[in-house]
Amino acid sequence: MGFARNQWYVAAYGSEVGRHLLARTVLGEPLVLYRTQSGQVVALADRCVHRRYPLSESRLEGDTIVCGYHGFTYGSSGACTFVPGQQRIPRSAKVASYPVVEQDSFVWVWIGDQDRADATTIPRAPWLNDPRYTVVGGMEPLEARYGLLVDNLMDLSHETYLHGGYIGTPEVADTPITTEVDEEKGVIYVSRHMDDAECPPFYAKSTGIEGRITRWQDIEYHPPCLYLLHSRIAPQGQYPPAEGPDSAACHAEIVYAITPSTEHTTYDFWAVARDFAIDDESVTEYLRTSNHTVVMQDVTALNLLERVIAAEPEAYQELSINIDTGALAARRMLARMIGSPVGAAPAGALA
Ligand code: FES
Ligand SMILES: [Fe+2]
Repeated sequence: MGFARNQWYVAAYGSEVGRHLLARTVLGEPLVLYRTQSGQVVALADRCVHRRYPLSESRLEGDTIVCGYHGFTYGSSGACTFVPGQQRIPRSAKVASYPVVEQDSFVWVWIGDQDRADATTIPRAPWLNDPRYTVVGGMEPLEARYGLLVDNLMDLSHETYLHGGYIGTPEVADTPITTEVDEEKGVIYVSRHMDDAECPPFYAKSTGIEGRITRWQDIEYHPPCLYLLHSRIAPQGQYPPAEGPDSAACHAEIVYAITPSTEHTTYDFWAVARDFAIDDESVTEYLRTSNHTVVMQDVTALNLLERVIAAEPEAYQELSINIDTGALAARRMLARMIGSPVGAAPAGALA
């Protein structure tokens, strides 16, 4: 499917980047990340200009990296400040440096033409950094192409089958979705509003709501990288008031950053921010463990799919149905960002 360049991607959580060298590969580009003594995050190409030794396997000295092979030394701009055995530093002794923005607990890097990087276009996930929410999260490396994770997250009907006993109940697969595409903003919205649904263990054990629920799932996908799922859980029949806070309901803001690493691998950043039981450690631990289990169920399924798909011809014709409208809209928008034709089912396949 290719990659959408000239876009912002999450390379790490801010908490992962410190006074050590962290290697990440984004869109096939090897990066080394670290934090300067004053706290700025730096992202440089992870290849020494001399003999391509990975800088991430080298030594951080102050704000400079000393190559672990022959000692070429790089400042935080990527420019070489020292080469061994001679005074003159060749003008081309410089590794690429990437624009970086730390926001909403993520480290975003710009992959593309430097002069086109505009930090104001980075989509927001403010709940991850808001004291009114408690957050659990993590990152799982996926041995699968990022398009499979996009498909997975845009169609939550799979919760019923793949995540039964955790977040899936029969109503998820049974309730139709509505899909909207805002071409101008570059956002795809998919909503599934269940008026009278069974409460899955994930929410029954964390919200304390007993009996049946009104469960809303409102997805906002900001291709290529940021996926938001606004999850509203309320006692059955409780709807948001016309005015004022929706305090009868529990809200979970589920955030994924989908970062292509290589053609066949992906970083799956996941987080759950909640506005209920925010000081209850046992709820925090329960949600951390359950959501990690759910993420690993997806990882296992997508790794399996990748092996199947990689071994079969590209032209294989899949069959799409109504539940796939969100994923197909996402594929079309991504294909436009990449500048390539979309490999999706013909529109006629949608009943
Ligand atoms: S490879 Fe880095 S100094 Fe030689
Ligand atoms: Fe899933």
